[in-house]
Amino acid sequence: MSLLEVRNLKVAYGGIVAVRGIDLEVAAGELVALIGANGAGKTTTLKALAGVLRPSGGSVHYDGASITHDPSHRLVQRGIALVPEGRGVFARLTVEENLGMGAYIRDDRHEVRADLDRIYALFPRLKERRAQTAGTLSGGEQQMVAIGRALMSRPKLLLLDEPSMGLAPLMVQKIFEVIASISAQGVTILLVEQNARLALQAASRGYVMESGAITLTDAASTLLASEQVRQAYLGE
Ligand SMILES: Nc1ncnc2c1ncn2[C@@H]1O[C@H](COP(=O)(O)OP(=O)(O)OP(=O)(O)O)[C@@H](O)[C@H]1O
Ligand SMILES: [Mg+2]
Repeated sequence: MSLLEVRNLKVAYGGIVAVRGIDLEVAAGELVALIGANGAGKTTTLKALAGVLRPSGGSVHYDGASITHDPSHRLVQRGIALVPEGRGVFARLTVEENLGMGAYIRDDRHEVRADLDRIYALFPRLKERRAQTAGTLSGGEQQMVAIGRALMSRPKLLLLDEPSMGLAPLMVQKIFEVIASISAQGVTILLVEQNARLALQAASRGYVMESGAITLTDAASTLLASEQVRQAYLGE
């Protein structure tokens, strides 16, 4: 049974329907990519899964229970963490304070300290800059803070929205290395990316979203080889 099961999910902004009844599954331990053009509904989907937006229809099951209408703080407690598009770091707080915000639901201070050390091991750059305010970091470093903050809640399911957006090639490579190592540690990942090639290379399966609907789903290697995907999303 899948860790995440989405059935006929619909999400609207007032009268504007952005997600038109999608089905999607992610098995425990899987890394799944969700790709699609601007405005396809990828961010809207992730926000609904994280409880930031309320679905207008359909159902979401997670870890054996319905979470369709659970608010975001409940979902964080249940192990779902969203790394939002644009990162959303607290610019005036230090790196370490930002990471600490990710652990606000936890009361096991000793373990939190150990997790902080694990995150600094994953991102040595953040350890060097632990006392620096996050607003003064580079885009890639801010992305590291956003991912690190999400990891501080000890997620079972990590929802990543465009982690490579706006980053220099070397930093994109670094972020994808980190995603692979988080995945290797057993965290289930749903990855939204405009960089479809890198996303499909990292993932085992993928979904293609167009105008609020899932139009294609398959093994990532099959999608990478598909003529339709190559023309529309891989710039070939
Ligand atoms: N707050 C909002 N109010 C009204 N419409 C919105 C809002 N946010 C998004 N939309 C609309 O919903 C649709 C899906 O947007 P969404 O941000 O989910 O797309 P996306 O696939 O993440 O795109 P991108 O690749 O540009 O990030 C778009 O048509 C967008 O204009
Ligand atoms: Mg988006």
